[in-house]
Amino acid sequence: IKITIIDREGEKHIVDAPTDMNMNIMELVRAYELAPEGTIGICGGMAMCASCQCYVLNAEVVDLPEMNPDEEAMLWEARNVQDNSRLGCQIHISEELDGLEVELAPAE
Ligand code: FES
Repeated sequence: IKITIIDREGEKHIVDAPTDMNMNIMELVRAYELAPEGTIGICGGMAMCASCQCYVLNAEVVDLPEMNPDEEAMLWEARNVQDNSRLGCQIHISEELDGLEVELAPAE
């Protein structure tokens, strides 16, 4: 599937995202090196750091998974949170996300 990621410099990247590798959006950003090492995925995807926060730009065209309580709690504490904020590490890449567009939140 294709996912569009806008990096923290505002540059747009349309990347191929595998649905068969049990990957999440945070890992995808790391795999394509779209954020400097050490600024994303700090907690290793445990919903405990918010370094993977991203803004979902087109939620209406994809079928996003519901937020789990850990993600919700972390977003209560995180900075720069908007109504469309999600934690990239809690969004697993699946067929339903084809065409998803996200923008990385500023580094904390
Ligand atoms: Fe830490 Fe997602 S990587 S909350």
